Amino acid sequence: METKKAYVITGPTSGIGYETALELAKFGTVILVGRNPEKLQRVQKAIENAGQKAVSVICDISDITAVKRAAQQIAHLGLTVHGLLNNAGIMPQKAAKSAQGFDLTFATNYLGAFALTEALAPHLPDGANLVFVGSAVEDPERKPAKMVGIKGARFISVEASARGEWKPGGSKIAGIDAYATSKLCVLAAAMALARETTRLRFNVVEPGITRGTALGAESTNAFVRFMFGHIMAMLPPFSRYSSTPKKSAKVIAGILVDKPSQTGVYYDEKGRPMQGSELSRDTSFQDLVVAETRSLLVKAIAGGQEYFQQKNT
Ligand SMILES: NC(=O)c1ccc[n+]([C@@H]2O[C@H](COP(=O)([O-])OP(=O)(O)OC[C@H]3O[C@@H](n4cnc5c(N)ncnc54)[C@H](OP(=O)(O)O)[C@@H]3O)[C@@H](O)[C@H]2O)c1
Repeated sequence: METKKAYVITGPTSGIGYETALELAKFGTVILVGRNPEKLQRVQKAIENAGQKAVSVICDISDITAVKRAAQQIAHLGLTVHGLLNNAGIMPQKAAKSAQGFDLTFATNYLGAFALTEALAPHLPDGANLVFVGSAVEDPERKPAKMVGIKGARFISVEASARGEWKPGGSKIAGIDAYATSKLCVLAAAMALARETTRLRFNVVEPGITRGTALGAESTNAFVRFMFGHIMAMLPPFSRYSSTPKKSAKVIAGILVDKPSQTGVYYDEKGRPMQGSELSRDTSFQDLVVAETRSLLVKAIAGGQEYFQQKNT
């Protein structure tokens, strides 16, 4: 094993991220980025007990200031980062705010991942692979999502999303509009970055309906829990997309450590190229998402913590 080669993973303490961290450890040192020190320690131990290497970096990915600090910490580890997996994600039923006053789902799933990518990119060698974990629920035409009343992303603008505002007429399932919109921005931004920075590779993976993770587990809606935990994995319209954290980890790690130079690819749960929503494929939309995100993050950092709350008062 080439120990100087390293892979960064966010959200390695549970579900898909946990299994992917174990898988990535076979290819180099794993830099574990998470918000809970005890959980991080447990993952690090599991990797070290298998005779492999891991380093922990504590970071709440929804907090842009913490993300920038973590990126600096990673850059000073003296390891060559060959890949970054933006995996951390949430799908809460109740809206909440991040340290900067952003919608917590949008900040965790998209803004934090974008900020980490931008902060780390200049430190990565040519050919490094930056992978985002997407979700097909961003696509309003995705059949299994449509069948359960998910209406796809409800994008107005990046700033509106950061405020927790979604295009009217969305899903009745609480929290899904925020989740789907965050995943649209993930996909669109990754595709724009792939066109913009050709020395690096930017790809997205849709891991499939992955049962047994903690995603949405905090939901108090028993139907939502049952739907995502069981129905979707077993019924024929959904089961073709079904996966487990171990299976998803193999596919994701495979893409992350892959040598060929593919960039700007959206992969499905089996590692085959797939299509995102029509909007996600529109290059002017992709560029707009990146431009609006950069502008928001600059203003947010300049404005200090709780950007929106300060602005509103
Ligand atoms: N499961 C599916 O069917 C499915 C389908 C499509 C896409 N995805 C995507 O796959 C990714 C992994 O999800 P999962 O299903 O494995 O869910 P999970 O078991 O809930 O894992 C989520 C991970 O993200 C971390 N995380 C959450 N908020 C964070 C924050 N503010 N800062 C740092 N880390 C944070 C969690 O840390 P803690 O342990 O500290 O909570 C955990 O390690 C997500 O991006 C999700 O959207 C999942």
